[in-house]
Amino acid sequence: MESLFVVLVMFVVAASVPYLCATITPDTAPCFNVLHFGATGNGQTDDSQAFANAWQEACNATHDTSTLIIPKGKTFMLQPVSFQGPCKSASVIIKLKGTITAPKSVESWIWPNHDWGAWVRFSKISGLVIYGGGQIDGQGAPWWDCFSNNKCHRPTALHFHDCENLILRRLTHINSPRNHISLNACSGAYISKLHFIAPEESPNTDAIDISESSNIKIKDSIMETGDDCIAINHGCKSISITRVFCGPGHGISVGSLGRNGAHETVEDIYVRNCTFFRTTNGARIKTWMGGRGYARKITFQDIIVVEAKNPVIIDQEYNPQDSTNAVKVSDVTFRNVRGTSMSKHAVQLHCDNNIGCTNIILEGINITSAAGEEIYASCKNVDGVCTSCFPHVPCLSEEE
Ligand SMILES: *[C@@H]1O[C@H](CO)[C@@H](O)[C@H](O)[C@H]1NC(C)=O
Ligand SMILES: *[C@@H]1O[C@H](CO)[C@@H](O)[C@H](O)[C@H]1NC(C)=O
Ligand SMILES: *[C@@H]1O[C@H](CO)[C@@H](O)[C@H](O)[C@H]1NC(C)=O
Repeated sequence: MESLFVVLVMFVVAASVPYLCATITPDTAPCFNVLHFGATGNGQTDDSQAFANAWQEACNATHDTSTLIIPKGKTFMLQPVSFQGPCKSASVIIKLKGTITAPKSVESWIWPNHDWGAWVRFSKISGLVIYGGGQIDGQGAPWWDCFSNNKCHRPTALHFHDCENLILRRLTHINSPRNHISLNACSGAYISKLHFIAPEESPNTDAIDISESSNIKIKDSIMETGDDCIAINHGCKSISITRVFCGPGHGISVGSLGRNGAHETVEDIYVRNCTFFRTTNGARIKTWMGGRGYARKITFQDIIVVEAKNPVIIDQEYNPQDSTNAVKVSDVTFRNVRGTSMSKHAVQLHCDNNIGCTNIILEGINITSAAGEEIYASCKNVDGVCTSCFPHVPCLSEEE
């Protein structure tokens, strides 16, 4: 009688939770495999409802962590989908081992009533972890054509909004319709070992764009998308970027800030041990004339440039117009930047007549021409110091 009861209990447990992924003990964190929610993984059928249902369960689980599994060897086609928190589990882990892919043509995208401008959106989630070696394919090619023909409004591939303590690790992102990842209003993120790939001529397919976020760390990643590798936009604070290989692309940029007279701020940015390979820019700070606010405490250190067009650039007069305002640029350091430039104009520090840039430090700059030409630096309205700079930067005071 007792053994029958045990068998019965085991049967009931197994039947009611068929999506548990591993051996069950009372303490096992719950685990939800999208295949058990009806996802086909055939690359054609719309699997987004199955993903949404699996997410609901994972997010609702009352354990410390719960895991959503996207298995290896399968391709899941998703229409625009939104994964929302807050979740009951303190951390939701998405083990992405397979591939997720967007619809193949622009016409076959099915937008929900509320267009959130992204293909896959995560919002209001604390402790979200996405990792596992899988691939995220935005099927961008038809969008790039559509954009160049009639300016269609293109979505971001992955958008994270209002996330706290996010971890992204070991993923490949290819061919987004627009930027591959955007982070907005996130606090705390640890991003590592991502690989971004898109054709060099694909328009505005930035790897990572960040706005209104703080305490973001990006490490050990390769970004080859032909556009900004990382763009740090308004409202960012405490962003550190280490060992990123960027190129072909546009480099790592702060801004542009202050468009249309906006008051925007960026501070505490640390870019270290990065390589810019055949990028149009390297380390860039760009602000619009007429804007207000500041970009300050920004360091680019231990940077290697290989055939970059504008390896070091501050442009405080982007799109000149009549105005007495500008975004204040101060406390910027470029330390140990070496390598080769494609253009003769290797260092450009161009600041506004009224506001200017202050405390700009260049230290250990050695940029030579990739073509064996004479190379030069130019500057305007910059206050700062240069120690051991080649090329010589005329408007900075020199220290030995
Ligand atoms: C989530 O949990 C709430 C309350 O515990 C419940 O009402 C709801 O149906 C659950 N949703 C899902 C999708 O499990
Ligand atoms: C940066 O690179 C230098 C030299 O390659 C190395 O000594 C240093 O440890 C690296 N630092 C970081 C933070 O990766
Ligand atoms: C600058 O780099 C070139 C090429 O690598 C090298 O020959 C030269 O010695 C370097 N100059 C300084 C001052 O380090």
